[in-house]
Amino acid sequence: MNQLKTLVFLILMYVLISSCGHQQKINGYHFETRKEIEVRRGAVVSASPIASQVGVSILRQGGNAIDAAIATQLALAVVHPSAGNIGGGGFSIIHLKKGQNIAIDFREKAPGGASRDMYLDSNGNAQLNLSQNSPLAVGVPGSVAGIFASMKYAKLPFKKLIQPAIDLAENGFVLAQGEAESLNDIKEHLLKMNAVAPVYVKDSPWKTGDTLIQKDLANTLKRMRDYGAKGFYEGETGQLIAAQMKKDNGLITEEDLKNYQAKERSPIVFDYKGNTVVSMPLPSSGGIILEQMLKMSAMENLGKMNYGTLASVQLMSEVERRAFADRAKYLGDPDFVKVPVKTLVSDAYLKKRMSDYDPNKAGNSKDTKEGYIIEGEETTHFDVVDKDGNAVSVTTTLNGGFGSGIVVKGAGFLLNNEMDDFSAKPGVPNMFGAVGGEANAIAPNKRMLSSMTPTIVLKNNQPYIVVGTPGGTTIPTSVYQTIVDMVDFKMSPKQAVDSPKFHQQWLPDVIFVEKDFNKNTIEELKKMGYKISVRGSIGRTEVIEVKDKKIIAVADYRGDDGAVGY
Ligand code: GLY
Repeated sequence: MNQLKTLVFLILMYVLISSCGHQQKINGYHFETRKEIEVRRGAVVSASPIASQVGVSILRQGGNAIDAAIATQLALAVVHPSAGNIGGGGFSIIHLKKGQNIAIDFREKAPGGASRDMYLDSNGNAQLNLSQNSPLAVGVPGSVAGIFASMKYAKLPFKKLIQPAIDLAENGFVLAQGEAESLNDIKEHLLKMNAVAPVYVKDSPWKTGDTLIQKDLANTLKRMRDYGAKGFYEGETGQLIAAQMKKDNGLITEEDLKNYQAKERSPIVFDYKGNTVVSMPLPSSGGIILEQMLKMSAMENLGKMNYGTLASVQLMSEVERRAFADRAKYLGDPDFVKVPVKTLVSDAYLKKRMSDYDPNKAGNSKDTKEGYIIEGEETTHFDVVDKDGNAVSVTTTLNGGFGSGIVVKGAGFLLNNEMDDFSAKPGVPNMFGAVGGEANAIAPNKRMLSSMTPTIVLKNNQPYIVVGTPGGTTIPTSVYQTIVDMVDFKMSPKQAVDSPKFHQQWLPDVIFVEKDFNKNTIEELKKMGYKISVRGSIGRTEVIEVKDKKIIAVADYRGDDGAVGY
């Protein structure tokens, strides 16, 4: 009888513990997509509801926000192959409950064999197919080094954090609509870039609900589990990457991989209307131009205006134009070029910058060549907060959708095409239409300039808004607009995410607007002399707001994104 009682007790305990999520095993076949949640303890919002679920399961097992961010990032490398990655790079902003703010730079680097004019033909013309769609486009990956750099702030063993990603790669998961569509769109490119068709290619079109299993990727992740960062940068995986590059005439060597290091940097920190904004420093332009934009529009009383009106859109577009002009001229890897950051964000400089601003007249970016923007700003962003007040904001990228399209044979993951974020030739626009100058010229081992803007806004030194988005050069403007929407225009996080975005980046001299942007405002801007270009969605902004002990997490309706919390 006693044995029976013990057995019943043990079964009850097991059921109880399982239902609390402590033994929760992630199932890539069952998940629900929620765009807005309100919870009390912790939340994760990312491009994939499965990856968000992985992060929350780690929080429930006693992990902190950093543990959850690491597990989410690794899961995204499996379930969001167009942008989640181990073959790319990115940036994290971490706020620790004790008040410390940390920026981790795991941006890709130019290989040691790279050179300034490597994309120029004999006539000196930039060959953008080389910087975007060739083995020469691949930068030395930083994501795995970034994950291990943030382990310093984690609580749980790495083995636990990587296991859900291994399970999802090994056992598969079901594709959401956007992911299936993006795999179909990239099929021809993947076939062109790989001698053997990778797992992302199948004869018939992918459909929502199809299963994707990635055995080679699972084995690569297991080598990371067993040997740490060396399990990626050295040993079998390092050799496979270098062999792939050698076969394709790319530049990355085993030496480049072995030498890669993530860097902890001092974040950009500034006050915005009583809040403290913490964002990414160089080699991302994001934090600097976010500070410039918020300060310049505050000088012109943006707080007294309303969302989407002629007055606010005209002012914000002019502010965006000026920040992007500075980006093109001054910004680059601070380990290689001297950037006058203090001056660029100083009140005196920004006041001067706005001295020719006229609210009744369209500005212009004349005397410069027009660039172009194409779709495919495939980066991914996620936010995490935990019950103790830690918060993490991470943006990571392969650059274009599916990066270079090159899948490392035998290792099952995609390599980036981040070299295109250097300026191939001063004045020639990259795939985001961004131009750059000497500061962002290619040099061996240099990091290419980025626009990624993972950001945490603090109120009284506690997380208030955790925000970021993919979207190439549209990233800083979307983060800027989201902060303005919530702080100045008093929108809820859902309104701020859902509201149509616009974007001005100096060159081309155009204001891009999303399809559902206010038609009257568009007509008024045109009358004033602005060129307007209506385009597809801008970014996929993820936001967590922490207010009055409530955590509101919002996933962007523009993608498959999902928020999970508890
Ligand atoms: N590859 C996009 C960025 O870094 O801004």
